[in-house]
Amino acid sequence: MSKAETIPTTASDPTVAAGAAQFLTPVVHGLQALTINGKQAHWHVRGANFVGVHELLDTIVAHAGDFADTAAERIVALGLPIDARLETVAKKASATAVPAGFTKSDDLVRAVIADIDAILVDIKAAIDGLDEIDLTSQDVAIEIMRGLEKDRWFLVSHVAA
Ligand SMILES: [Fe+2]
Repeated sequence: MSKAETIPTTASDPTVAAGAAQFLTPVVHGLQALTINGKQAHWHVRGANFVGVHELLDTIVAHAGDFADTAAERIVALGLPIDARLETVAKKASATAVPAGFTKSDDLVRAVIADIDAILVDIKAAIDGLDEIDLTSQDVAIEIMRGLEKDRWFLVSHVAA
């Protein structure tokens, strides 16, 4: 047997890998949906603060893609696959609050905040659930929560009193 054949696919325990996949997969689905629905919002914002909201939404889309990549690659690094095909994401992610057409910026900002809040529920569940399973995967969830809460703040600041 060659040396290459003796290298295991992953250094992780199967329970750790399964736990990471269980808790991080919904996070990946939600964030991938945000990359699509955030672009929809980016294209259709109208009214007050157009430029600021239009550009902020692109930043949020870029962050969502990066966060999804980090969570998905944690699962794959532990040796498991993830099904994040468009059809699967559409079935598994929460329904978006973003409307289909042109929308006033305040309404659109509120809709994207609602989408982010749905993802934050899954991230919080991942942080809690991974606490006793895998602290490294939990750290991924914590990092994503910190980033997404910052993006949420940037949105909220457009509509807060
Ligand atoms: Fe654009």
